Amino acid sequence: MTVTCVNGTALTASILLGSPTSNSIVIKLFSADQSGSVSVSYGTTPGSYPSITSPIALITGGITTEFNIGGLLADTQYYYKINYTPTGGTGGVQTPEYRFHTARNPGSAFSFVIEADPHWDVNSDIYLFRQTLQNMLTDQPDFLLDLGDTFFTEKHNQALDKTEGVLIGNSTTSKSTGSPPVSTEAQMVARYRFNRSYFGLITHSIPLFLVNGNHESEWGTRNSTSPGLNWAPKARLDYYANPKPALQPFYSGYTKLSGESLVRYDSATWYSWRWGDALFVALDPYWMSTGSSGWGLTLGKPQYDWLKSTLAQATLDGVKFKFIFLHNLVGGGTSMRGGIEVVNQYEWGADTTTFNTNRPGWGGKSIHQLLVENNVTAVFHGHDHVYVNQIHADGIRYQELPQPSARNTNASGASANATTGGYLSGTILPNSGHIRVTVDQTSVQSEYVRSWVEPTSYGYSLTTNKVGTGKTNKSIDDSWTCTYNASTGKCQ
Ligand SMILES: [Fe+2]
Ligand SMILES: [Fe+2]
Repeated sequence: MTVTCVNGTALTASILLGSPTSNSIVIKLFSADQSGSVSVSYGTTPGSYPSITSPIALITGGITTEFNIGGLLADTQYYYKINYTPTGGTGGVQTPEYRFHTARNPGSAFSFVIEADPHWDVNSDIYLFRQTLQNMLTDQPDFLLDLGDTFFTEKHNQALDKTEGVLIGNSTTSKSTGSPPVSTEAQMVARYRFNRSYFGLITHSIPLFLVNGNHESEWGTRNSTSPGLNWAPKARLDYYANPKPALQPFYSGYTKLSGESLVRYDSATWYSWRWGDALFVALDPYWMSTGSSGWGLTLGKPQYDWLKSTLAQATLDGVKFKFIFLHNLVGGGTSMRGGIEVVNQYEWGADTTTFNTNRPGWGGKSIHQLLVENNVTAVFHGHDHVYVNQIHADGIRYQELPQPSARNTNASGASANATTGGYLSGTILPNSGHIRVTVDQTSVQSEYVRSWVEPTSYGYSLTTNKVGTGKTNKSIDDSWTCTYNASTGKCQ
């Protein structure tokens, strides 16, 4: 049996800690072409697995097979293997050793990683994305946040060609052409399954938190007549272990809204959880939006109220670090782009009078104002396809993320993207790579880990993204730190 490979022929695992409670885990297994039974052996020492689950059937090509393991030790490193017995009972194999860490207690140091805009379009490079995935795996973070424009089903209905990372049927030179948007549920499922075959290279050991982008077929107004609004959440529910706050009280966030007409599933697109000394908040400015720009973009009052109470409770509880994750600011500049230069716009940052005019009954405070009042440490956002490290005058770090997978990127491309995004300040650097954040009791450190494709045997021909002079894989091209001040409650 192939345990981890790409393009849907593998048995892949996707895990979520704290589900349903802090000392538990969900392991979702998927295989396109294997049937039989599977079990999980696990323990707290590498190479030793004194506990084993009962075997359950592996559903070939269907929705995922799911293990729920409870009773784990708090704040503890675990190691596990998946045992697979094919139908017929002979030829059983074990996966390599995987790992996970149960929910961190306050005072426990940890790291996590973030990437944004993998796209899977004609400007995506599969080998570069695989290099970024590998780089993140070797960081051994507790989890990964993906900040959207990930499944890209609002633009494309086909999988990518595995050889050079271009859309099947399109040449690398005709980047303006792509396949049309997803129009059937089968196409939607195929995109989600295809992406899983790549994420599956690391999600056995790194829980993946999905945050919606604008190209995920989940934008309320633009897709209001499209059944994709139902297909996309269903595919996320079936193939990924995203939080389900209605069923997993370790997480807070979306639960079905009263009077909600759309069929949305328990897999949430806005949610929060605590880990160590930090609060993590993922936001979705699409589901509830009534337009595609300015005040038409919104969290919606239920999500806004939930954000307000989530931040207030964390402040009351003395949580030291608070991180916000979303694809783009709610409003922003042209095409929802930009960082600190557009923070004062629309729902994200309008003054009280303007906010009250446009959001009557919401209490008069913009999102940014809520973040300032609660000493939010950093806002991590994507959408603009360039690394921009900025700090707002109000003390909040605004970190725009690079893509993990963009082909043919360089300084002039970064400059062009920054100009398009309206960025006037900050450290601006080209794609591609990921962000690694390390958190301990007193400080936060964020690093831009650059990706360059290592020479390997898989026939990679695009020289632009290969390692070489000045191109060292996993080089740290920028970083920032902050230190917690107990008297102010800020990390600066
Ligand atoms: Fe994007
Ligand atoms: Fe985007």
